[in-house]
Amino acid sequence: MIKNISVIGSGTMGNGIAHTFAQFGFQVNLVDINSNALDQAIKTITKNLDRQVSKGTLTVSEKEATLKNITTYTTFEEGVSNADLVLEAATENIDLKLNIFKDLDTFAPESAILASNTSSISITQIAAATRRGDKVIGMHFMNPVPVMKLVEVIRGYATTDETTQLIMCLSEKLNKTPVEVNDYPGFVANRILMPMINEAIYTLYEGVAGVREIDTVMKLGMAHPMGPLQLADFIGLDVCLAILKVLHDGFGNPKYAPCPLLVNMVAAGRKGVKTGEGFYQYL
Ligand code: CAA
Repeated sequence: MIKNISVIGSGTMGNGIAHTFAQFGFQVNLVDINSNALDQAIKTITKNLDRQVSKGTLTVSEKEATLKNITTYTTFEEGVSNADLVLEAATENIDLKLNIFKDLDTFAPESAILASNTSSISITQIAAATRRGDKVIGMHFMNPVPVMKLVEVIRGYATTDETTQLIMCLSEKLNKTPVEVNDYPGFVANRILMPMINEAIYTLYEGVAGVREIDTVMKLGMAHPMGPLQLADFIGLDVCLAILKVLHDGFGNPKYAPCPLLVNMVAAGRKGVKTGEGFYQYL
């Protein structure tokens, strides 16, 4: 029985994951070493719940119950001590994640499942930082978490059927559709999405068409909710670059080499919505 969820990291993905579990009645401990980030996360969750209330998909009392289900912590010792499941949603940095999992293995109950929301880092490698590889798994949500229906469930080399089944069932309890995949670079979602985004950036770089033209072709021609360049801004250009590097290194295939324009934009600090500027301006 999974009841208590600890979410590590209160950024965009972490607060969306905390919001979603709390909305479906789970007790959520939201953990971040930065207390200002936790305050900001609660404000974001409140704003997104208000949006659901104004759309009529949530009542005011459901909103209040959701907020009551979330408690914030700044240390692992306190934040994961009663966890049935810990879900890590920290920055996409391998060394950081390995350190976090080492600590989680120390502070979380022995029976707890340790999951990562990583978009491309190897679950098998993360699991090797713990003494419970059988209970380490990928639980990859899509942004915005309260809205998107997919959970990509990634089995590491040592993940058991039992752990996988628990996470598949849990995803369904969040009214989402889980899809089980194996642990290879980019899994399925980003192995297919990132080459499309990279190709859109190459199309711009080579002067085939402008930003709006490329996005309009894909939005109206392929019925995508956002064009690939707008989506790249939304995901974060630094995140797109990091995932492409994982694909490029992992497969050693030049088809995954990041477009030089993407590399330059990230180096110049133009990382998309979060910095106010990417392929579009956000003021
Ligand atoms: N929290 C709660 N609800 C939210 C929300 C949030 N953060 N953001 C949007 N919503 C809700 C709105 O209230 C609205 O609800 P109703 O359908 O009940 O009316 C619905 O979502 C649609 O929102 P809007 O009408 O404001 O805007 P929209 O129609 O333009 O949709 C969008 C916005 C859902 C983001 C849509 O543009 C979309 O689907 N974009 C593509 C998103 C995508 O591809 N995500 C995956 C990115 S890849 C990733 O996350 C993983 C990775 O590893 C990189």
